[in-house]
Amino acid sequence: MAFKSLFALATLATSMTLTNAALTRRVACPDGKNTATNEACCALFPIVEDMQQNLFDGGECGEEVHESLRLVFHDAISIGAAGGGGADGSIITFVDTETNYHANLGTDDIANKQAGLIAKHNITAGDFIQLAGAVGTSNCPGAPRLDFFLGRPTATAAAPDGLVPEPFDSVDKILARFAEAGGFSPAEVVALLASHSIAAADHVDPTIPGTPFDSTPGTFDTQFFVETQLKGTLFPGTANNQGEVQSPLAGEIRLQSDADLARDSRTACEWQSFVNNQSKMQNAFKAAMLKLSLLGNDQSTMVDCSEVIPVPATFTKAATFPAGLSINDVDQACTETPFPTLSTDPGPVTSVAPVPGS
Ligand code: HEM
Ligand SMILES: *[C@@H]1O[C@H](CO)[C@@H](O)[C@H](O)[C@H]1NC(C)=O
Ligand SMILES: *[C@@H]1O[C@H](CO)[C@@H](O)[C@H](O)[C@H]1NC(C)=O
Repeated sequence: MAFKSLFALATLATSMTLTNAALTRRVACPDGKNTATNEACCALFPIVEDMQQNLFDGGECGEEVHESLRLVFHDAISIGAAGGGGADGSIITFVDTETNYHANLGTDDIANKQAGLIAKHNITAGDFIQLAGAVGTSNCPGAPRLDFFLGRPTATAAAPDGLVPEPFDSVDKILARFAEAGGFSPAEVVALLASHSIAAADHVDPTIPGTPFDSTPGTFDTQFFVETQLKGTLFPGTANNQGEVQSPLAGEIRLQSDADLARDSRTACEWQSFVNNQSKMQNAFKAAMLKLSLLGNDQSTMVDCSEVIPVPATFTKAATFPAGLSINDVDQACTETPFPTLSTDPGPVTSVAPVPGS
């Protein structure tokens, strides 16, 4: 009896080892250079290379990366209550229709650049948009390594207008839209907005193109969550009609939607929880981005090609208050926990520089 169960255990252990080996076995790609766990992913390596060289200026976390991440959102969130659309590439396939929608102002530039690369490769627009978002984000120090699933068919229709949130929408409207589009919780909406850590606006206030949402638009850090919580000199109530409210930092722009989400009782504590918690922000963003990237698709029919996404550089600097500011400048909104203790950047008060190339 005892011998028999020992034997059973040994057999179990052997079969587990075999299963693990099968899961991690890699095949050599036809290019003779790369290996992949799934051969279908091999075709992506030259596309990633082309993107890095010819879309992202050799692997930078700059304007085209920011725009590509925004394009991920605008393509995917355009899914109606009844389904149809989603992350299907329709913003490129039907570029002349969708990039004329008000919420999509400015996306034509990156949509057309991406279309030029798509034409050179065997990949659908829907897959390319998500791949570019994940590869581009990996160029930003501090970012999580996002997942990428392959297999979105070509879109057959343009998404209707009115599905992409605008910065002048109320928190009620924004949360309802995310819930309708993909069952996103308020916490997941906050997580997705970590994207605004590597972002700038060209069209919210066209007089100041390239104005970032935080002081470090080239780094996927938590400064965005610190800086949106600072008292704005003109907050609340002075938004221009395009959803711009003033940040206390010169050279920085704040969206009314970000200001409101940082202060609403449904989202304020989650917002504050990302301050100086890089790993929490990374994990929550990665999970919510996977969900966003799959909207309108059936994950079980797709191939996990996350292995083609480069590993981002780590970022370990603690979050800080910008020079001249302190806890006294925080507009405390979370009533459950105090704002984290942060040090203040040394030196004189400086202005945030615009993102080049905007
Ligand atoms: C409440 C929801 C959101 C609203 C109202 C919103 C609104 C905006 C606006 C108005 C801009 C500036 C566009 C311009 O003037 O050039 C912007 C930029 C951006 N957004 Fe959002 N956004 C939201 C959510 C998201 C999400 C979920 C993502 C990605 C996951 C995202 C990624 C970005 C990025 C990366 C940029 C920077 C683009 C650039 O620098 O060129 N946004 N967003
Ligand atoms: C293009 O990609 C699809 C799916 O990824 C594949 O089935 C097909 O064989 C590819 N075509 C060529 C010409 O490589
Ligand atoms: C960061 O977030 C994680 C996950 O929610 C939590 O367990 C941890 O305590 C947080 N760390 C700090 C320093 O707040």
